[in-house]
Amino acid sequence: MAILLLLLLLSPFLSLSFAGPVAVEFLYPNFTGSNFHFVDNSGGIFLTSPNSTFQAAIRNPDNQQTNFYLSVIHTASNTIVWTANRDSPIPNSGLVRLTSTGITISLPNNTVVWSTPSLPSPVRCLRLLDSGNLLLLDSKNSSLWQSFEHPTDTLVSGQRLPSGSSLVSSVSTANLSSGNFRLLVTSDDAVLQWMGSQQYWGLSTDPRASKDVNAQVSYMATNFSGLYLFSTRSDQEAVFQVNLGGADLWIARVDSRGRFHVSTYPAGPNSLHDTFVAPSNDCDLPLGCTALGICSGGGSTSTTCTCPSLFGKTTDSGDCTPNDGAVLASPSVCSGSSHPTSSFMSLGIGVDYFNYKYANPTRTGVNISSCEGLCNGNCSCLGFFYQNSTQACYLLEHELGSLTSSSTRDAIGYIKTSGSPSSSPSHSSDSSNLIAILLPTIAAGLLIVVLLVVVSQWWRRRRMRKSASQRIWKTKSTGLKELQLGRHKSSPVGSPDSDDEFASDDEIPIPGLPTRFTHLQLEAATDNFQTRIGSGGFGEVYKGVLPDKTLVAVKRVRVMGRKKEFFTEIAVIGSVHHINLVRLKGFCAQGSRRMLVYEYMNRGSLDKSLFGPGGPVLEWQERVDVAIGAARGLAYLHSGCQHKIIHCDVKPENILLHDGGHVKISDFGLAKMMTPEQSGLFTTMRGTRGYLAPEWLTNSAISDRTDVYSYGMVLLEIVHGRQNRSNGAVLKSEESGGTMGTESSSGFGESEYFPMVALEMHEQGKYVELADQRLEGRVTAEEVARMVKVALCCLHEEPGFRPSMVAVVGMLEGNVAVPQPRVDLLNFLRLYGRGFAVGPSGFSNAGLWPHGGGGARGSASNTTSTTTESPTYSFLSSQQISGPR
Ligand SMILES: *[C@@H]1O[C@H](CO)[C@@H](O)[C@H](O)[C@H]1NC(C)=O
Ligand SMILES: *[C@@H]1O[C@H](CO)[C@@H](O)[C@H](O)[C@H]1NC(C)=O
Ligand SMILES: *[C@@H]1O[C@H](CO)[C@@H](O)[C@H](O)[C@H]1NC(C)=O
Ligand SMILES: *[C@@H]1O[C@H](CO)[C@@H](O)[C@H](O)[C@H]1NC(C)=O
Ligand SMILES: *[C@@H]1O[C@H](CO)[C@@H](O)[C@H](O)[C@H]1NC(C)=O
Ligand SMILES: *[C@@H]1O[C@H](CO)[C@@H](O)[C@H](O)[C@H]1NC(C)=O
Ligand SMILES: *[C@@H]1O[C@H](CO)[C@@H](O)[C@H](O)[C@H]1NC(C)=O
Ligand SMILES: *[C@@H]1O[C@H](CO)[C@@H](O)[C@H](O)[C@H]1NC(C)=O
Ligand SMILES: *[C@@H]1O[C@H](CO)[C@@H](O)[C@H](O)[C@H]1NC(C)=O
Repeated sequence: MAILLLLLLLSPFLSLSFAGPVAVEFLYPNFTGSNFHFVDNSGGIFLTSPNSTFQAAIRNPDNQQTNFYLSVIHTASNTIVWTANRDSPIPNSGLVRLTSTGITISLPNNTVVWSTPSLPSPVRCLRLLDSGNLLLLDSKNSSLWQSFEHPTDTLVSGQRLPSGSSLVSSVSTANLSSGNFRLLVTSDDAVLQWMGSQQYWGLSTDPRASKDVNAQVSYMATNFSGLYLFSTRSDQEAVFQVNLGGADLWIARVDSRGRFHVSTYPAGPNSLHDTFVAPSNDCDLPLGCTALGICSGGGSTSTTCTCPSLFGKTTDSGDCTPNDGAVLASPSVCSGSSHPTSSFMSLGIGVDYFNYKYANPTRTGVNISSCEGLCNGNCSCLGFFYQNSTQACYLLEHELGSLTSSSTRDAIGYIKTSGSPSSSPSHSSDSSNLIAILLPTIAAGLLIVVLLVVVSQWWRRRRMRKSASQRIWKTKSTGLKELQLGRHKSSPVGSPDSDDEFASDDEIPIPGLPTRFTHLQLEAATDNFQTRIGSGGFGEVYKGVLPDKTLVAVKRVRVMGRKKEFFTEIAVIGSVHHINLVRLKGFCAQGSRRMLVYEYMNRGSLDKSLFGPGGPVLEWQERVDVAIGAARGLAYLHSGCQHKIIHCDVKPENILLHDGGHVKISDFGLAKMMTPEQSGLFTTMRGTRGYLAPEWLTNSAISDRTDVYSYGMVLLEIVHGRQNRSNGAVLKSEESGGTMGTESSSGFGESEYFPMVALEMHEQGKYVELADQRLEGRVTAEEVARMVKVALCCLHEEPGFRPSMVAVVGMLEGNVAVPQPRVDLLNFLRLYGRGFAVGPSGFSNAGLWPHGGGGARGSASNTTSTTTESPTYSFLSSQQISGPR
C-alpha cells in the first residue's frame, strides 16, 4: 500500500524524466532519433557504453550548423573516434533509424544518405561496448556488423587495422569528409601517404620504432604498452613496436594535416595528450608550408617558409607563384597530351621535394632533357626533380606540395607553367576558342589554390594554438621529478649545494625509473668490486649481481662534477629508453662516490667480437644486424628523444652485444646534453682517435653529423673485420709520440688505411673484395656494396653532405635509396691514407686525426684537452673509454 502511494506520488516525476529520450546501453529496432530529439537533454547522445567511456551521438563538430554525423565519441576527451556518414553529412533535422535490417541515416524527406550493408539475419539490438565498438547483434547475440571493422581516421585500443587497410584523415575538424592523407598498413610497414600514393613517413624508418622479427605484418594495434605491427605468425609477436609507456586507452589518429598521433587523455576533459607524433618535423609534411613554399626548421626550432627565388609570395594568399606572372600548370588545363604553352621554371639550388626520402624515381638512367621531355609530354605532370648523380627523374603529379631546403642532394627541380594567356597570344587558329575554354578552368584552378591556401593557413593558425600543449616526450623537469621519487629516501644525500631539488623525496616506488643504490648495496652486488670487465676514461666497470639475481654492470665513475650536474645527467639518461640503447638501471651518489648501474651485456663490446683473436668470426648477417641496430640507437639519440643527444664517442668499444642478437649503444649522454640553442656550437667534447670527424680539428660546429662520421668509420670496420688503422706498429708509434707513421702503400695490403682503400675500390665498382677475408666469401655482394656506399656517404668531409642517422637506417634496411658517395668530398681520405706530412697551413696537424687526433682541436697533444668548458667532462682523455659490459 505504501509502495503504491509512493509510486503515485512519484509518477509525475517519473513521466517527466521519461519525457525526453535518455541515453541507454541497448537500442532495439523501430528506434528513430535525430539531433532534435536529443539535443536538449543530452547533446545528441542516444547510446552509452556500460561504464560511459564511449557514447554514440549525432554530432556537429566545431558547433557548425550544417554537418551532422552519427558518431562514436570518447566521453572524457570529447573526441570523435568513429563516424558513420563522414562523406554524407546530414542537416540537424536528419534522422537515424534502427530497423531489423540495420541502421539508416536519412534526410527529413526520407532520402537515405547512409546505411549499414545488407545483413545475413535480422537485427535484435544495437550495442555500444566499453571499447568503443558499435555492434549490431542478432538474436543469438552474435555480431552482424561492427564499427571497428570500418575505421575512419582513428584507431582505439582493442581495435585492429589489418594489413592493406588504412586510416583516412578528415578534411578538417568541422568537415569530417575523407581528406587526402592516410595511414596505410602494408605487409611490412605502416606508412603515411598523401594523395593516394606519395609516401612521407614510414614506421620502419622512424628511430622511435624498433624491429622485433622479420615477418609479414598482419595488423596494427595498440595494447597497454604501445603501438605494434603484429606479425602474421602470432598475436604475441610484433614486427615493429613503439614503446609508449603504458595506458589503458590509446587513441591513434591521422589529423587533417596528415600527422599521425598516438594519444592518451590524462590531462583532463577535452584534451588529448600526444605521446607519439609522426612525422615529428613539420617540414616532412606534404604541406608543411603552402605549395612550393620552402620549409626549414620544423623540428626543435620553429618552421619558416620562404618562396624559391623566381617565385614570390602573393600578398593575399601567402602562396608561392611565379614572379613573371606565368601560371602554374594544372592537370585540368590540358588539351590532348600536353599543356598548351608549357615551359619550366627552376626552383633554384639546394631545394628538394618534401617526400624525396621515400619517392621512387619515375625513370632512372636518363639525362635531364629526357626527364623534362617526360614531364612535358604528360598532362598530369606538374614539374620534375632530377638528381644528377643517380640520373634519376622524379615527376610531380596530382598537386604540388611543399619543398624542403636540402644541402645534401644534388637534385634540381623545375615546375611546369603554362605561359600566361595574355603574354602568348594567338598563334593558332582556334586560340580564341582555346582561351574561352582555358579562362574559366584557370579561374577555377586559381580558386582551388586560394581555397587551399585559406585552409592551410587556417591549419597553421590552429597548429600554433595547439603547439604549446603538444609535448611528445617527457621533459627534463619531469625526468628530475621522477628522480625525486627514487626509492632510497633514507640514503645519505650529500652536500647541500645539490639537494634543494631532492629535499621533498616521496617514497613512491615507480617501476622503470633508475633506482638509487647505496654504496654498500653496490659493494655487495659486485662482491667488493671483484670482477672487472672493463676500464676507461670514465672509470672501471665491474660485473655485479643484484639481490633479485639480475646481472648488472657497475661503472665506478672517477669524476663526475657536482652532484647537481650528475643528477641532471642521470635524469636524462634514465629517461631514454630504446631497444638499441643500454638501459641505465640505477645509480649511486654518496659523498664523492658516483656509480652507474647498467644492464649487463654478456657478449661484451663489438671490438672483441670483431677484432678479437680466437673466438668465432662474426658472420655476415650478424654484422648487418649489428650495423642496423647501432644505427637505430644513434638515430634515436639524434631525433627520437626530447633532447637531442650527440654521442661524441661512437666506436666499436661502445657498441655492446648480448645473446639473442641484441645490439646496444653504451655511454651515451655522458657527453654534454644538447639543447637546441647549443646544438650549433659544441666544442667541449672529444671522441676517440680513429673515429674523429674532421670538424673536430677545423672550426666548424659539432653536430649529429659528427656521430655519423664516426659511425661511417665503424661501418667500414664491420665490413672489413679489422680496425681501420690496423697496423699495430703504426698504432704504437702514434700513441707514444703522436706522430704519423708513413705506411707503404704497395697494393691492397692490410697495412693500408682502409677508408682510402674503400674509396678506391668504390671508384672501381669493386666491393666484395673489401669484405672480411675470414668470412671466405660468405657475404651478400649487394649488401657489402650497400654498406660500403653508406659508410662512404657518412664520411663526406662536409658534415652537411652526410646523411642523418635516420636516413642511414633507411638505407641499410633498403627502404631508402643509397646515394652515390661523392668522391670530391672523400679525397681527403687519400691525403691521410698516403701519410702526407704537412698539409695547408693551419692543417699541419691534420695528418694526425684519421689515425690519432685524440688531441684537442688544433693541438698536437693527444692527452690533454684545452677546450673543455665544463668541469664535468674535463677528465675525458683520448684513452679508450669503455662502456659497461
Ligand atoms: C517495427 O515496425 C514495423 C512497421 O512499423 C513493424 O512491422 C514491426 O513489427 C516493428 N518491429 C518491432 C520489433 O517492433
Ligand atoms: C530530399 O532533400 C534533398 C535536399 O534537401 C534533395 O536533394 C533530394 O532531392 C530530396 N529527395 C526527394 C526524394 O525529394
Ligand atoms: C570501462 O571499461 C573498460 C573496459 O572494460 C575499462 O578498460 C575502463 O577502464 C573502464 N572505464 C571506467 C571509467 O571504468
Ligand atoms: C544477449 O545479451 C544480453 C545482454 O548481455 C542478455 O541479456 C541476453 O540474455 C543475451 N541473449 C542471448 C540469446 O544470449
Ligand atoms: C567538406 O569537404 C569536402 C571535400 O573537400 C567538400 O566536398 C565539402 O563541400 C565540404 N563540406 C562542407 C560543408 O564544407
Ligand atoms: C603488447 O604486445 C607486445 C607484443 O606482443 C607484448 O610484448 C606486450 O607484452 C604487450 N603488452 C601488454 C600490456 O599486453
Ligand atoms: C639525352 O638523352 C637522349 C636520349 O637518350 C638523347 O637523344 C639526347 O641527345 C640527350 N641529351 C643530352 C643533352 O645529352
Ligand atoms: C603521366 O605520368 C603519370 C605519373 O608519372 C603516369 O602515371 C602516366 O602514365 C603518364 N601518362 C602518360 C600519357 O605518359
Ligand atoms: C650535372 O652533371 C653535368 C654533367 O655531368 C654537369 O655539367 C652539371 O653541372 C651537373 N649539374 C649539377 C646541378 O650538379
